[in-house]
Amino acid sequence: MRELVDKLQEERRLEKQEWICLIQDRNESLDEYIFEKARSERELYYGNKVYIRGLIEFTNYCKNDCYYCGIRRSNKKLERYRLTESQILDCCDIGYELGFRTFVLQGGEDGGYTDEKIVHLVQSMKALYPDCAVTLSIGEKKKESYEAFFQAGADRYLLRHETANANHYRKLHPEELTLENRIQCLMNLKEIGYQTGCGFMVGSPYQTADTLAEDMMFIQNFQPHMVGIGPFIPHHQTPFADMEGGSVELTLTLLGLLRIMIPNLLLPATTALGTLHPRGRERGMAAGANVVMPNLSPIDVREKYLLYDNKICTGDEAAESLQHLKQTMKDAGYEVVTSRGDFIHK
Ligand code: 5AD
Repeated sequence: MRELVDKLQEERRLEKQEWICLIQDRNESLDEYIFEKARSERELYYGNKVYIRGLIEFTNYCKNDCYYCGIRRSNKKLERYRLTESQILDCCDIGYELGFRTFVLQGGEDGGYTDEKIVHLVQSMKALYPDCAVTLSIGEKKKESYEAFFQAGADRYLLRHETANANHYRKLHPEELTLENRIQCLMNLKEIGYQTGCGFMVGSPYQTADTLAEDMMFIQNFQPHMVGIGPFIPHHQTPFADMEGGSVELTLTLLGLLRIMIPNLLLPATTALGTLHPRGRERGMAAGANVVMPNLSPIDVREKYLLYDNKICTGDEAAESLQHLKQTMKDAGYEVVTSRGDFIHK
């Protein structure tokens, strides 16, 4: 097994069967071997720095009906909200003072937030905070829309591919959503010039070692700048309410393997990981992550942006939780920095 990890470090890619072996036969002692290598790879590009991103969950309206997601359109119990541009700029103001130099605008696919509104919003953010990066995480759009947002100044885009296997994709999404379109969106984003992020949930329903191997193969071919992975956590008002959640351990192993595969990757220790384990985000760092995305959304809307149950930090003041994050990271040997934290090219 260690030979496979060595090979990954040498060649930065593996065959499908090799990925399956690593995923199926993972164990604690192999993990230590993986994490050690992952940390030394990360060190070369990013040292012991932790990049922070201020996450602004600006709308929970969504036209999609993904079976796993708490803000799917069929969740009629959910009270919907949409922040105004000025509310969003207030979040940025607070975030900038705290030292955030990247703002992530994340939302459902909300037809009420037209392309024109997004363009205006991005322009305003870049005018007020020219030294900050703006990341969009607003789903599948036409290529022209992605171009318009990029022209307006958006720097990065997160669009998890969710699964690289078309049959698996079918089981997670209604028919109107296709893997083909998802991948086309990702290719468009990268071609336009965004720092582009894909990713998937670990332990999503119907996921197998085989589909996970395909995820890793997709990522080694696509060569994204960012990869977001976190455990699947059921949400009680979705069709997957009674499904089993994903494993923290497997998530950590995959974080380590992703770091070894793409040493200069921007790799967050996600909120979902922090939700399933009290030290999840620190453990994510120890496995090879280098990004954390604290919540900057106004406290009164956070309970309405629950993609899954028991999400952490929904009641925490931004300033306080950042202070806490800085301290826990420092104790673990990492330094939270005030920086855009761009992708470093080889
Ligand atoms: N558990 C974990 N992650 C989820 N996401 C959506 N629903 C869940 C859930 N129940 C993830 C998806 C999406 C990202 C914004 O959040 O991967 O792309």
